[in-house]
Amino acid sequence: NQLEMELEAIEKGGYEHFMLKEIFEQPRSIADCMRGRLDAKNGRLVLGGLRDYMNKFQNADRIIITACGTSWHAGLVAEYLFEEFARIPVEVEYASEFRYRNPVISEKDFVIAISQSGETADTLAAIELAKSKGATIFGVCNVVGSSIARATHAGSYTHAGPEIGVASTKAFTAQISVLTMMALMLGYQRGTLTESKYVQLLNELETIPSKVERTLKMNPNIEAISAEYKDARNFLYLGRGYNFPVALEGALKLKEISYIHAEGYPAAEMKHGPIALIDEEMPVVFIATKDNSYEKVVSNIQEVKARKGKIIAVVTEGDTVVRGMADHVLEVPDTAEAFVPLLSVIPLQILSYHIAVMRGCNVDQPRNLAKSVTVE
Ligand code: G6P
Repeated sequence: NQLEMELEAIEKGGYEHFMLKEIFEQPRSIADCMRGRLDAKNGRLVLGGLRDYMNKFQNADRIIITACGTSWHAGLVAEYLFEEFARIPVEVEYASEFRYRNPVISEKDFVIAISQSGETADTLAAIELAKSKGATIFGVCNVVGSSIARATHAGSYTHAGPEIGVASTKAFTAQISVLTMMALMLGYQRGTLTESKYVQLLNELETIPSKVERTLKMNPNIEAISAEYKDARNFLYLGRGYNFPVALEGALKLKEISYIHAEGYPAAEMKHGPIALIDEEMPVVFIATKDNSYEKVVSNIQEVKARKGKIIAVVTEGDTVVRGMADHVLEVPDTAEAFVPLLSVIPLQILSYHIAVMRGCNVDQPRNLAKSVTVE
């Protein structure tokens, strides 16, 4: 009815869809996530939820991360973060596989469960299993008081605010923000991160909300590119290192809301299969920011170009090499390599949003999907 429609319009705050509103909220949701925790000026970082468990965390033999969907992608980013900064081995597990596999778990394992809703049945079951084997379970949830938040020993909320769009956006970047803070704290406590590097990273982390804001300014460009590719039947997303999980997430976003078949791959795996798919009909999204694997990604771009694939590349501001090769470039500000996913995922969220809208899809409530999956 009329009143309900008006109320919904108010909730959308002037945006056409919740998803777009939530994408644009990210500078604020990331800042909210870091508020009261990160104090870069004084070189301090505190996650209240970790306080009583810092000892267990620091001395863990292994970190096991379990989650589903987009939250699992945040877990993959965290694998790189924990290994880089804290030098603890990490395993990232789909909760649905973990729970049925009789996994090897001990009291020396620190398990991190990531869930926006805090209600995902498979994740909850994975937690119960790990708990029964004596592991410490830490939750990274968005919904306060949710089942997963209650089932874990401790946790840190993501504070992203309510996420209505079924395709997760701001919850994802908030999860990565919490996991980044955890990795930095852990690395500092363990001595695997020097004081000066730690302080330098804290200061860089503090600039992320404003860099996300800058990234969002590309929205009109991305909308124009979307019009060119909205009728594609397939998409490939390629990235390496920290941007490999971003490639998976970009492909998932597109699948979920536009129903275009999309696959994410580590760029180097292209030669083991996906390269066979490339022709002039195949758009390939490269995440090619200036980092350790940049040169290698550039050669992957050349390989796609040689096969006449269409190239959309996410690059670091000021990049000229990829600009000379790609059909379209989307720039993100420069940052520490470990923080790039917080920026590089933004244009991919926006791209999938516009393509889905142009195809007439219901972006906030895509067919067959649910916001929280409380059944197996
Ligand atoms: C569903 C949602 C996804 C979400 C996944 C995990 O599939 O549609 O957006 O990533 O569940 O949900 P969780 O609430 O545990 O993060």
